[in-house]
Amino acid sequence: MIILNRIDTLKNELRQITKDKKIAFVPTMGALHEGHLSLISKAKKENDIVVVSIFINPTQFLQGEDLDTYPKKEQADAKLCELCGVDYLFLPNKEMMYEKDEILIKAPKTKGFILEGEKRPGHFDGMLQIVLKLFNIVNPTNAYFGKKDAQQLSLINQMVKNFYLDINIVACEIVRENDGLAMSSRNVYLDKHQRELALNISRSLNFAAKAVGANKTNSTLIIKEMEDFLSQYTEIKIEYITIVNREFEQINTIEIKNSIILIAVKIGNIRLIDNIWV
Ligand code: PAF
Repeated sequence: MIILNRIDTLKNELRQITKDKKIAFVPTMGALHEGHLSLISKAKKENDIVVVSIFINPTQFLQGEDLDTYPKKEQADAKLCELCGVDYLFLPNKEMMYEKDEILIKAPKTKGFILEGEKRPGHFDGMLQIVLKLFNIVNPTNAYFGKKDAQQLSLINQMVKNFYLDINIVACEIVRENDGLAMSSRNVYLDKHQRELALNISRSLNFAAKAVGANKTNSTLIIKEMEDFLSQYTEIKIEYITIVNREFEQINTIEIKNSIILIAVKIGNIRLIDNIWV
């Protein structure tokens, strides 16, 4: 595995790869867990070259969020990438990735400012800005993203479409701990009690999935069942529970194979999101 910090060196390396080879890209913010590893392993199977980036992107964090405390595990991450057969690990820094007065990408006014975008206004602007930069550096055939960040995934797909990028976005399944907790770099913030509580997030989604399996497709009723279930746990503060189609439009009736049930909660100061695609 080649570890690179410089943009021009990575570009030069990748330029030498012949056009018939497929380049996969897995952008991350590090603190790699099984979820990331599943993206890398899928990327490895489906491509000739795998590039992983680790960059804690400051522009997608809001004031007061966890930019300074975001988990950092550079050495362990590099080891994992090496073991997974990554070809290039790209570790840029802030100074390389940004200049002071830049042209900015804006998330769409509606889809970028509902749900996660409403709770974290500006988050998606910064996320799209960095993803576009990274796409232009790596110029991959396929780029891999997890379904856990469903709105992020949807906006990246839209950016690819709106800017005519020649990149195939591969949506990857959510990876869960054995007890159902969706993998996230931020799970390390949870203490034992909070982690126990957090299991109720995926439990509530499982109830919803069962209801859908039993032909209950009324969004309001399903959301109400989830809210009622979670209301037993006063330490879980629901930020939103909603049901959208794959275009991220809110829907009153679940469309099978075209719907996502999304939830965001806070336990203490820790914000957790999860979802299920039905
Ligand atoms: O999902 C993430 O880890 C980040 O939002 C991403 C896509 C690497 C951009 O910084």
